[in-house]
Amino acid sequence: MFGLSPSSLTTALALLAAATTTVSAQGDLSSTNNITSIEGTWSSNQHVQTGGAFCNPANYSFTYPATTGISYSFTDTGFFEEAQYRFTSNASNPSCITAYILWQHGTYQLNNNGSMTLYPFPSDGRIQVQDPCAAVTNLITEYNQVTLYADWGIIMDSTRGNYKLELNRFDGAKMPPMWLMANPPNMLPTQYLTGVNASGQAARKRDLDGLTKRSGAQAVSLDLPVLLAASLGTLLVGAVGLVL
Ligand SMILES: *[C@@H]1O[C@H](CO)[C@@H](O)[C@H](O)[C@H]1NC(C)=O
Ligand SMILES: *[C@@H]1O[C@H](CO)[C@@H](O)[C@H](O)[C@H]1NC(C)=O
Ligand SMILES: *[C@@H]1O[C@H](CO)[C@@H](O)[C@H](O)[C@H]1NC(C)=O
Ligand SMILES: *[C@@H]1O[C@H](CO)[C@@H](O)[C@H](O)[C@H]1NC(C)=O
Ligand SMILES: *[C@@H]1O[C@H](CO)[C@@H](O)[C@H](O)[C@H]1NC(C)=O
Repeated sequence: MFGLSPSSLTTALALLAAATTTVSAQGDLSSTNNITSIEGTWSSNQHVQTGGAFCNPANYSFTYPATTGISYSFTDTGFFEEAQYRFTSNASNPSCITAYILWQHGTYQLNNNGSMTLYPFPSDGRIQVQDPCAAVTNLITEYNQVTLYADWGIIMDSTRGNYKLELNRFDGAKMPPMWLMANPPNMLPTQYLTGVNASGQAARKRDLDGLTKRSGAQAVSLDLPVLLAASLGTLLVGAVGLVL
């Protein structure tokens, strides 16, 4: 399960018993204290995962997961992919709950001070935001957010018998924890899929064909959760807090 052999799991659990601390981030993964590589697909829940049909950047479409959640994939060769579907509440106006779904991919770097930086391919990222209190909403637009995570760590979660990845944002806020879902990771091709790349070459049609073939599921509208959120107000804010 999850691509872990029983023996590697046993070894990891034994290591955990010997030293039960969060593995602190290191500037390079060659450090001896990483219990496993960051390579793989990590998700807060099984419904949200990178790769496959979550986003099709070529025609600006998303396939909405059954629940909110976040997912990141990493390769040991320096590529990442990010998928998020979340609600955020507005403290000053509880009925203004914003729903957003976003996707981007590109390269990442583990910095010497223990932080991690994501450098997206600028033309490929996509976001859709539904804000009941904004004048214009529900458009799918390009998204290109260089992201700094101040800290990251992987622990063995003995309750689930699986690795858990934790990311802390630059402002100290914690991202929802994620568990290892697949290794090797499920990712769209780790190169520019739309637009032109740094050397000015257009994405190859072959890659886009592969991408569109995988998008079979129907997208659903964001309207329902947002309408629900607006009418339930603070009650849902509490529930959403738990889901996230
Ligand atoms: C630590 O990370 C490196 C690089 O990803 C990996 O090759 C190595 O196997 C990891 N160490 C352990 C004990 O898993
Ligand atoms: C929160 O709601 C207030 C009042 O409607 C609005 O002015 C503000 O821009 C909202 N903040 C965010 C982050 O959406
Ligand atoms: C850690 O290193 C990154 C990359 O060099 C940098 O952007 C960030 O500001 C540094 N953080 C701190 C707290 O120095
Ligand atoms: C740009 O895209 C072309 C065609 O896909 C590829 O051969 C080339 O390596 C890419 N260059 C960079 C810098 O990504
Ligand atoms: C995007 O392309 C996929 C695959 O061809 C298709 O299933 C989907 O309906 C398209 N979405 C939009 C909004 O055109």
